[in-house]
Amino acid sequence: MSRQKIYLLLGLILFSSAIGIFSWFARAAEWTPAEIKTLQSLSLSSLPPLAPDKSNRVADDPRAVALGQQLYFDARFSKDGAVSCASCHMPDLNFQDARAHGRGMADTRRRTQSIVGSAYFEWFFWDGRRDSLWSQALSPLESTNEHGGDRAQYARLISENYRAEYEALFGALPDLLDSPKSNVPAHASPIGDETVRAAWDQMPRSDQENISRVFANIGKAIAAYERKILPGASRFDEYVDAVTRNDSKRTNEIFSADERAGLKLFVGKANCVQCHNTPLFTDDEFHNTGIPQHAETEHDLGRAEGAIGNFEDEFKCWSEFSDDAERDCPQLRYMQARGGEITGAFKTPSLRKTQYVAPFMHNAWYTTLSEILDHYNRAPAATIGTTELKPLNLSEQELKQLEAFLLTLTAPVNAPPGLLQDPFATK
Ligand code: HEC
Ligand code: HEC
Repeated sequence: MSRQKIYLLLGLILFSSAIGIFSWFARAAEWTPAEIKTLQSLSLSSLPPLAPDKSNRVADDPRAVALGQQLYFDARFSKDGAVSCASCHMPDLNFQDARAHGRGMADTRRRTQSIVGSAYFEWFFWDGRRDSLWSQALSPLESTNEHGGDRAQYARLISENYRAEYEALFGALPDLLDSPKSNVPAHASPIGDETVRAAWDQMPRSDQENISRVFANIGKAIAAYERKILPGASRFDEYVDAVTRNDSKRTNEIFSADERAGLKLFVGKANCVQCHNTPLFTDDEFHNTGIPQHAETEHDLGRAEGAIGNFEDEFKCWSEFSDDAERDCPQLRYMQARGGEITGAFKTPSLRKTQYVAPFMHNAWYTTLSEILDHYNRAPAATIGTTELKPLNLSEQELKQLEAFLLTLTAPVNAPPGLLQDPFATK
């Protein structure tokens, strides 16, 4: 062998071992300390216990959870006796319905959201038009295309079917509901069709207040139930725990190379964490991400409409129906109520799912994760308002990796199994 050849060989050996050492280091330091902080901030291990809800004094009372579960599944609380919360928020489908529009008395305007973990949120609905879990629950009950009934009907149903459970929690039902002398009209409410409103207008003011209070308490019991429906630990959470322990054997067992690369993109180059952050993978805020709108049927201003709804809500944070004596409500007082940023903006959905239930987005525009990722990659101009997104220019492979990562967030719901069952189901 010539001297030249020997040098070449030696050079090659040195070069390849340098690469080997380099990649060994690269693997050992898969995540920088800053990245590890971000990963931990997304992990369920960082989710604080639910804060007490001062506006709902039965929020954590097990008797309210039990009553709330009954009311959640009880289809008598509807116009035709066939619609319950579970008609659209089905325990088997990530508490959604796999439909483009929820189906109650008619079709809802937007797609059904999940209720898993919703007790952590400050704003409810795609446009945030309600500010507490219990006031949210009252909306579908009286909405004409959801349950379609009214509060007089519901107060009577409570008096006839849940008197003992109700009174143990909230005190005596108002005298006016005592049958047979009950003089509450069969149907009455300040919202709804003309006859229902006319019947309401004829009721004395004190009766109206009493009925509305029973109605608000229905919402508070349902909210106590919803507070128990939480996201369970996913493969992602196991991964972060292993990263925290610096257990590289486990991290490699839990995540494939693609899943890890997808996570890296999620917190890095693709910057999904700008909005999908906290252990629930949502900032609970509103963003215009330029989801196209159905030109003929949809003109949805999103948060710009929701902010008006917050002030119009009869059960809002500072209403007389709140159990919080202070009624301070800074989030409502200081919320952004106008401006270009909230036009066409919708609430960031949580990416923690028991399963990904298509279709997606507020208007069900997309049906697959790869379509969604293609959307983020292109960042098309918005139909209404201005999109906050910028094109990402990710490769096909990177998009696949992001998708692989998203699927690691699926996990069973974290709730006592009994709470996932319809108490009225015939066995
Ligand atoms: C007919 C279908 C339907 C019924 C019945 C229904 N919902 Fe919904 N729910 C929806 C739709 C659709 C949305 C989103 C609506 C919007 O943003 O305009 C929603 C939104 C919600 C949200 C907001 C979640 C979030 O992250 O902001 C909660 C909580 C909720 N519903 C709970 C309930 C409860 C409790 C009941 C029963 C009292 C109920 N729903 C009845 C379809 C339904
Ligand atoms: C500027 C804030 C923002 C950023 C950045 C962002 N998202 Fe979103 N995401 C949203 C909002 C808002 C929606 C709902 C939009 C709508 O319905 O109009 C959404 C919806 C989704 C959905 C559909 C979930 C469902 O249940 O319908 C997925 C999946 C998703 N985003 C993943 C991602 C990924 C992956 C990234 C990074 C590539 C990302 N998002 C970046 C705000 C954001």
